[in-house]
Amino acid sequence: MSRLIVVSNRVAKPSNTGGSQGGLAVGVLAALSKEGGLWFGWNGKISNNEESNVEIDRRGNIDYATVSLKKNEYNHYYKGFANSVLWPLFHQRPELMRYQKADFLGYHSVNKKFAQHLLNFIQDDDTIWVHDYHLIPLARQLRQLGVKCRIGFFLHTPFPPYDLLRAVPEYREILRELMHYDLVGFQTESDARGFRESMRLSLEASVVNDVVHCGSETTLVKVYPIGIETDSTPNLVAKGKESKDYQRLAHSLGGRKLIIGVDRLDYSKGIEHRFIAYEKLLQQRADLLRQMVYLQVAPTSRGDVQAYDDFASRIDRTAGHIIGTYADFDWMPLRYLNRGFRRNTILAMYQLAQVGFVTPLRDGMNLVAKEYVAAQNPEDPGVLVLSKMAGAAAELDAAVLVNPYDTEAVAKDLARALEMPLDERRDRWQKMMKVLHKNDIYTWQENFLNDLSKPRVPSNQLQ
Ligand code: G6P
Repeated sequence: MSRLIVVSNRVAKPSNTGGSQGGLAVGVLAALSKEGGLWFGWNGKISNNEESNVEIDRRGNIDYATVSLKKNEYNHYYKGFANSVLWPLFHQRPELMRYQKADFLGYHSVNKKFAQHLLNFIQDDDTIWVHDYHLIPLARQLRQLGVKCRIGFFLHTPFPPYDLLRAVPEYREILRELMHYDLVGFQTESDARGFRESMRLSLEASVVNDVVHCGSETTLVKVYPIGIETDSTPNLVAKGKESKDYQRLAHSLGGRKLIIGVDRLDYSKGIEHRFIAYEKLLQQRADLLRQMVYLQVAPTSRGDVQAYDDFASRIDRTAGHIIGTYADFDWMPLRYLNRGFRRNTILAMYQLAQVGFVTPLRDGMNLVAKEYVAAQNPEDPGVLVLSKMAGAAAELDAAVLVNPYDTEAVAKDLARALEMPLDERRDRWQKMMKVLHKNDIYTWQENFLNDLSKPRVPSNQLQ
């Protein structure tokens, strides 16, 4: 069997210290742990040493090979093109884009640097799996260096429709770069449709079955909704319940119902709209005051990108306003924390919460939604209030689905979730668990890698 090489911008070693890891880290680590392999990417450090060496570290069955970024690489590639152009655009927020040609060039040169370093590790029969928007040009760079093995790409974020994609001046190049992969995977059908439509309209590509044909290139394009470690979640919850943090939280509630939100502090997560909806509930349902506590865990993320800093200030103001208006000396309606917790502790906190409040304005998948469900006690499960704009909504249609922009309706649905009878809660939970068992993180990995191992369709089979 061929060895798996995973490449992503950020490499997350299993530290269990919590923080601002997103779904990519959780998913990729679980998938790699099964068969082992090599994980290559950025070590999260900025270093201006002329020699940028690769650090190697083996833990369990995974080899980690990481490099640091120079300050200007970090600025142009990570802060610039990846997180000030592609991230806002892919999350349908073009007004937050800060485009500069220099960032696009820096993005390419870091992809080239990654390819050059990675080349030293690649053996002929390896399979390379590249993750996320930071590394779209990587396959082309590797091919130019003579790499022949199979290379797949999975996008963890949404992919925008053609009319939005065009807002980035180099959109054609981005599309062509994706065609250098043998397989391109998306979270949902709507993301895959955005890509296929963009290929057709801008590059006159044709699509036959799941294969996109463009000039001499063919690429298989399919949907693989990422899952979680469904079976092992109850054990992790049990471990989390032993933690002091969990016990202190449980004790502090004094019998009140808990609503929980856990997100990186990112404008795509809908935290501001969520706070406004919660305030509407506080205004409209005086009978619920003091009966509930909303805990929003939001570790700071990409804090040196302007749009994130602005967003953090707005959230601070909104949280301060809610607390100042509704809190009493012996009751806080909202607890807002810019820090993370150990993973097991968070999972145990999910079980403690009557409501999982997950209302992104746009999200590739959202694994918090899935983990919240998997962490519930089957005898007395809580209710997931989930945005229709999250990829997870396509699978978890038994959640209380909301439009995050309609804060009036969200407030009503939140009240409904808090008061939902046990039968309905169980029924919804069982339906969602079926989905989470059927498509867990291992199925996701297997489906993607199976398709990647299939021979590439020659372009002359175009019909
Ligand atoms: C999202 C992205 C990942 C990213 C993570 C954390 O989940 O899809 O690619 O690693 O956020 O963001 P950061 O910028 O801290 O790596």
